[in-house]
Amino acid sequence: MKIAIYYFSGTGNTELTVKKWASEASKHNIECDLFKFEEITDKTIDVNNYDKVGIAYPIHAFNAPRIVLKSAKKIIKCVSPKPFFILMVSGEYMNLNHSSYLKLKSILKKRNMTLESEYHYLMPYNMIFRHTEKRAYDMYKTMNSLVELDVKDYLVNSKTHHLNKHKWARPLIWAFRIEQVYGPLYGKMLRINKKKCIKCMKCVNSCPLQNIEFKDDKFKFHWQCTLCARCSFNCPTNAFSTGFLQLWKVNGKYKFKEPMEVEKDKHPKYCKKSYIRYYKEAKDRLNNIEK
Ligand SMILES: Cc1cc2nc3c(=O)[nH]c(=O)nc-3n(C[C@H](O)[C@H](O)[C@H](O)COP(=O)(O)O)c2cc1C
Ligand code: SF4
Ligand code: SF4
Repeated sequence: MKIAIYYFSGTGNTELTVKKWASEASKHNIECDLFKFEEITDKTIDVNNYDKVGIAYPIHAFNAPRIVLKSAKKIIKCVSPKPFFILMVSGEYMNLNHSSYLKLKSILKKRNMTLESEYHYLMPYNMIFRHTEKRAYDMYKTMNSLVELDVKDYLVNSKTHHLNKHKWARPLIWAFRIEQVYGPLYGKMLRINKKKCIKCMKCVNSCPLQNIEFKDDKFKFHWQCTLCARCSFNCPTNAFSTGFLQLWKVNGKYKFKEPMEVEKDKHPKYCKKSYIRYYKEAKDRLNNIEK
């Protein structure tokens, strides 16, 4: 079998998940090609040579990022029906998030592609608030174990997986398409504190949409932002101010290692029920307990 996974990852969590899928697939002698949407310069994408196609992305306000939808439109119509699977990554396990691919699904349907299986992995927040290293590490470990199971179940044993949906998902996620309006606005309102900035150009060089320009010793921001948080999250000196989302800014990579010290969880109650549900479902699935 030969599969392809096309993905976007703002700050690396989706990329970690996708790479784990690829390494697990290769353990089962399944060829898995990975493609970053932002690096595809061709006008069209041909997936006819693959048996299955995966699309992976971080959930942004209950939706798939705009860059994913735009890139998916490049896929040319498949000659025969092509199964695809979805890998969603986000900071909270809410049923509303499980419908984040609705628009993507309708784009792919026109390309003769049908949804076969869907997965949602919890990984730490890159916006809203910083998860503790302990929580981040638990999420990372669970994602790794689940991917081992999912790859074996789906790619080897053809067992598909589906997620529970919120009954009002369609109108609700439509109402939350914040990236359409606030993405460009957010990108334009980004500011850099000159006293803190060490001019490493990490933000300029890594922005997936070239939204940040450095010219005549000045940073310029355009209207292209996809709200991925990569620039402010990875800035080594935390020099970014992110306008109306400043209070939600998260800066600095997670270590994804067992923390040496106990860190106080400032948000112990946040989405508690959905976290409990995620770990319970994960435990049951890993222990092979059917509902
Ligand atoms: C603009 C924005 C909106 C987000 N909205 C949601 C959301 O609605 N639900 C959620 O669980 N996580 C949300 N997140 C968090 C990301 O989905 C989460 O941190 C994910 O792990 C990031 O993956 P990445 O590193 O591949 O970009 C949001 C992040 C950003 C930047
Ligand atoms: S990443 Fe931070 S320190 Fe580096 S150029 Fe950008 S704002 Fe300055
Ligand atoms: S400006 Fe920052 S948040 Fe916007 S697309 Fe570029 S890296 Fe992502």
